Amino acid sequence: MKTFKVFRFDSDKDKKPYFDTFNVSVKRGTTVIEGLFYIQQNIDPSLAFRFSCRGAVCGSCAMHINGKYRLACETQVLDIKKNTITIQPLGHLSVIRDLFVDMDRFWQCYREVKPYLMAGSPPPEKERIQTPDERKRLDDMIDCILCGSCFSACTVTGTDEKYIGPAALLKANRFLKDSRDGVKGERLQIVDGLHGIWRCHTIMSCQEVCPKNLSPTEAIAEIKRTMVAKKFSGE
Ligand code: FES
Repeated sequence: MKTFKVFRFDSDKDKKPYFDTFNVSVKRGTTVIEGLFYIQQNIDPSLAFRFSCRGAVCGSCAMHINGKYRLACETQVLDIKKNTITIQPLGHLSVIRDLFVDMDRFWQCYREVKPYLMAGSPPPEKERIQTPDERKRLDDMIDCILCGSCFSACTVTGTDEKYIGPAALLKANRFLKDSRDGVKGERLQIVDGLHGIWRCHTIMSCQEVCPKNLSPTEAIAEIKRTMVAKKFSGE
C-alpha cells in the first residue's frame, strides 16, 4: 500500500491549490499512471491528468513525482522508496485542473523555432538525399517526445516568460544540423535574440530530467559554438 499525495486545483472554482491523499494498493509493475487511474476509477472520478500512449512515447503524462519530472506511465511505484508518492503538475505552465496544465506557452516556444525542414530551394525530381553519416548527426536529437519535462525543470523558463526553452532549442539544433535544411542563417537569427540561446546558464536541469536521455544543454552549447564561429568567419 502506498499513499498518493496529489496536487489538486480547479481553476474554475478553487482560490488556491491543495493536496489530497489516497491509499493505493500496488504490486510489482504498478506504474504511477495506473495508481492515478485507480484513484480516478475507484475513489475520486474528478481527478484530472493527461495521458495517451501509456508506453513512454507520446509525452503526455509528464509530471513532478517525488522531486523529479518523470513520465507517470513509465515510473514504477515500487522504485520509489518513500511510502508517500507526491505528485504535482508540470511547472512554469498554468494549471487548468489538478495535474492537467495548459501547454500553450510550451507550444508557442516550439513554433517559434520553425520545427520543420525548410530546404530553401525548389523540390528535386525525386527526393532530398541524405547520406547515412549526415543522418547519424541527428541521432541525439530526434527522439524528443515533447513531454515538457525539460521546460518545467529549467530555471530560466521560470524567470523569463519569453525564453524559448530547452526542448525548442534542441529542435532548432536538430534542423541546423540537417544537411537538407537550407535556411540556417534564418534559424540562427531566431535563437540569437534576448530570449534565445544566450539565456541558458548551463545548469543542466533539462538533461537531468529528460526521459529519453537527450541533452538540450549540449544542443544549446552547439548552437552557441556555431554562432560564434559564424561571427568570427565574418559570414
Ligand atoms: Fe504517453 Fe506517458 S502516456 S508518455
